[in-house]
Amino acid sequence: MPELSIDGRKVNVPEGTTVIEAAEQLGIFVPRYCYHPGLSTAGNCRMCMVDVENSPKPQIACNLPATEGMVVETESEQARKDRAAVLEFLLANHPLDCPVCDQAGECDLQNYYMSFGLYDPRFGEQKVKKQKAIEVGPHVMLDQERCILCSRCVRFTDEITKTGEFGIFNRGDRAEVGLYPGETLDNPYSANVVDLCPVGALTERSFRFKARVWYLSSTESVCGGCSRGCNTELHHVSNRPHLNDGERLLRVKPRHNPDVNQWWMCDEGRYGHDWIDVDRLGEVRRRTDEASRRQVESTWEAALDGVGTALSAGGARVGVIASAELTNEDLFCLREVLGAHLGARIALPPAPAGGTSDDFLIRPDKTPNRKGATLLGIPDAATPSAEALVDAAIAGELDVLWVFGHDLVELVGAEKTRAAAVGECLLVYSGTNDHATVSLAHWVLPSAAAVEQDGTFVNCDGRVQRVGRALAPYGDSRENRRFLLEIAARTGTPAREDWNGPAGVFATMAEAVGSFAGMSYESIGDQGAHSAPSEALAEAEQS
Ligand code: SF4
Ligand code: SF4
Ligand code: FES
Repeated sequence: MPELSIDGRKVNVPEGTTVIEAAEQLGIFVPRYCYHPGLSTAGNCRMCMVDVENSPKPQIACNLPATEGMVVETESEQARKDRAAVLEFLLANHPLDCPVCDQAGECDLQNYYMSFGLYDPRFGEQKVKKQKAIEVGPHVMLDQERCILCSRCVRFTDEITKTGEFGIFNRGDRAEVGLYPGETLDNPYSANVVDLCPVGALTERSFRFKARVWYLSSTESVCGGCSRGCNTELHHVSNRPHLNDGERLLRVKPRHNPDVNQWWMCDEGRYGHDWIDVDRLGEVRRRTDEASRRQVESTWEAALDGVGTALSAGGARVGVIASAELTNEDLFCLREVLGAHLGARIALPPAPAGGTSDDFLIRPDKTPNRKGATLLGIPDAATPSAEALVDAAIAGELDVLWVFGHDLVELVGAEKTRAAAVGECLLVYSGTNDHATVSLAHWVLPSAAAVEQDGTFVNCDGRVQRVGRALAPYGDSRENRRFLLEIAARTGTPAREDWNGPAGVFATMAEAVGSFAGMSYESIGDQGAHSAPSEALAEAEQS
């Protein structure tokens, strides 16, 4: 553990630590372009130069091992001059098109220039012209003039995806980043190069000219695209709706979590959120006419009264098809209100076979909370399958069949779905988007999406993680938890008042379910926490 001094403060670090990492341990930020903790060291941008006692020239902190007795200055006059010189060099051929650059506002070239720039540029020659707005892949646009040749994108495609699409070609001021001949940047993690690019050379095609970043709000959450649960930041304009054309979630960025996704996320998860504003269910509907199965708009009061009455009729036989897209808090309320009190049989359809996966992040199960459902004992042991519940509805053995999220046509086929919808059984549907089952239901209760509510998921490794509410629920939709509590009130189910918030439900869940014991909504924090191993989980893993 060598001890060194940085800006007059002492720190002990493990052997092999670099000066830039040692400085970070002290909370000292050394400017950098090419250095990234998730990639190999390139040491080519020279932005991280620091003064080291007894060294005849400045050293780059990103490639300098910390040694015993080293004395480093990151803010000396010489270090600041060195940075200004590097910036002057980098900006010599830079197009300075910040007013039309999507990176403006979060650009390290702009940021460092404000701190260390030469405000009186000396470069009067013609700048070298390069190509702009090159579509290098389905998600990424390249502007070669803005590139500072840090090589982060090249190292990402070489070291992380190992697809090697990018290279740096030519020399001197003609050097430029680009694709190898015949290549397209279309690997499953391609958009991470945009996050890595410290300037506006690589930008997201879907975000181009949509919003200035200083108008965006950010919410920490977790991707629901598969059971990995990559940590994310949701960037949205929900509090300034006049700034866009109706799209509410403008982009998704990965959030660092060393135990889940490191710094990365896949393109499918990043861009798989169009459904949040397309074909959404925004109003309560009820079926008016049994023969034509016509539906009309209704109210929450009428729906909750109607469904509550059917559920509380003496001896009502209830089946529930739950979804692994629901948060733990929704599932717990569902279990307590419909299962424990009303005796509902609860099924959970398995993940469809054939989901794509790899040996990095992407998991074959495209639902975010199957493990959470398993920990909560869903499906219950007495319910063989969703199909068995539909069969029971057709056979007149159920009075209410409540479906969460699933399209029964996909689960059991159109014929059985129609048969279930025309029988005596009351078909209730709760979910986010329109599909064939919705139009057959007696009652349609629109649910808020995961980005419209707070709660928790348990990822494929048993890590409990919080999802964050970035947007207001679409239209008249509500959190499942909220309307389940209203059903509880109408059916005489004992539900606690503090269940109105996710923290309150989580607290009760932690008391009732061993896997969540000792945890609280607050203690999970922004990085998640591991659930305790449980018998339910071990059994599920074995099967
Ligand atoms: Fe670096 Fe961006 Fe240029 Fe790639 S495109 S080398 S990440 S500046
Ligand atoms: Fe989302 Fe899964 Fe992709 Fe991670 S790997 S970003 S959780 S879809
Ligand atoms: Fe150290 Fe680039 S960050 S040389």
